[in-house]
Amino acid sequence: MQITSLYVNRSLARVRRDIVNPSDILRLMKQPVGISRSAVRASDYMDHAIQLLQKRSLQEHSIHKRSINATDLIAEDDLQTIADLTGCTARLRSPSCKTTPNLERFRTPTGECNNQKNLRLGASNTPFTRLLPPKYQDGFSLPIGWDPQKKINNYLLPLVRKVSNRILSTSNEDVESDPLFTHLVTIFGQWTDHDLTFTPHVPVIRSFNDGIDCTDTCDMTEPCFPILFPKDDPRLLMNPESKCIPFFRSAAVCGSGNTGFLFGGRAVRQQINTLTAFIDSGQVYGSDASLAKNLRDLTSDEGLLRVNSMYNDNGRELLPFTTMISKECTNRARITHIKDAQEVPCFLAGDARANENIALSSLHTLLLREHNRLARALAKLNPLWSGERLYQETRKIIGGYFQVGATPTQIYFKFVTLIILTVWLFPLHLSVITFGSTSAGDSSLTKLRKWDPP
Ligand code: HEM
Repeated sequence: MQITSLYVNRSLARVRRDIVNPSDILRLMKQPVGISRSAVRASDYMDHAIQLLQKRSLQEHSIHKRSINATDLIAEDDLQTIADLTGCTARLRSPSCKTTPNLERFRTPTGECNNQKNLRLGASNTPFTRLLPPKYQDGFSLPIGWDPQKKINNYLLPLVRKVSNRILSTSNEDVESDPLFTHLVTIFGQWTDHDLTFTPHVPVIRSFNDGIDCTDTCDMTEPCFPILFPKDDPRLLMNPESKCIPFFRSAAVCGSGNTGFLFGGRAVRQQINTLTAFIDSGQVYGSDASLAKNLRDLTSDEGLLRVNSMYNDNGRELLPFTTMISKECTNRARITHIKDAQEVPCFLAGDARANENIALSSLHTLLLREHNRLARALAKLNPLWSGERLYQETRKIIGGYFQVGATPTQIYFKFVTLIILTVWLFPLHLSVITFGSTSAGDSSLTKLRKWDPP
């Protein structure tokens, strides 16, 4: 466990350097924090411990079969102790909802206890639900493509990078402005995703077996799952020596994959979602209780969200800064070419990816301001409400802004309809030209015109 912390600290050290490369940023962004970190670590420690014990037992018993289960070799009591020590047992225990206040009125930040029959339904740090069963190379944990010589439906798989180069690559010159939609449609998709899913990477960056840093190897060695370059890859023009893009596997849920059999459940590896499955504006308020608290302004009893204490935008509020020391957002000098430009830290919001791009940061800022505007308005209307009540009622209204509703005035409904209509209508050479409500208050989505795609 100390070794894991050491690797994570090294990961942090990398992003504190002056020049931070994209893979360092991705690595940091995909690291879970707070309670999610404990959940992911528990599973990681468990997996690691079982793998080591299995290896050792196989050696001691001179068995050469990798497929043998650790349960066959390690006493059940010992397995239970490992599960307890790593924190996996606790992760699978039902939460107690008895002391959670106002459950009938407000959602919890984690989504736990929202559904009284299924206490963890849609809660943060639970496995993703699958629409289709997974297909692993070994049936339960290794991804397909791990062994490039393994045939699938009698065919060798092409390199994933070859596929993406063929179907997704676009030169900068070929990127055109969309004639119909603004950039906000794109960013709203990202915004909505950041309310719903965050799939963390495993917290270690080195392979379990040999301690190799995943950024220094092109070998498939857990948790490194590098993306190999085909011979004609455009990136080779920049660096002919490079052979792959580093890539890390997503973290497994406790009791799935290699350790699934210990808990009597299905052994298939499942991935963890650190966010709630509900459209509840978790990206504004946080999906774990301590972050949610940290985002609040508790210096007054007004139900406000905390704002930046150093800067404002002509009197308008800005997001507070994170306290994490990293060079991830310090790019002012580089971009402005002003050597002594004052650098600032990243913004803090309910989702860790708030700084991913400036349009997304703007939406986070907008919703922070909207929360505080509403809370102040509610306070005027309800002078007897406590700060807690003001915060929760405002949070409920903001959540409502984005939920799927029956009325076309709700933002998410509009977004989904827009995307779906576009996809459906594209083959018919039709497209939506206006989007919004007419003066009569009805949706004008039906206003179509003939449109020839380029
Ligand atoms: C605008 C610039 C964007 C950037 C720079 C960006 C970047 C990223 C990165 C780096 C990841 C993590 C990939 C990994 O795990 O290796 C990611 C994941 C993801 N992105 Fe984006 N993205 C952008 C826009 C969008 C948009 C417009 C959408 C949706 C319409 C979107 C939806 C997602 C989803 C669903 C995930 C997976 C999230 C998870 O479960 O962890 N992204 N994005």
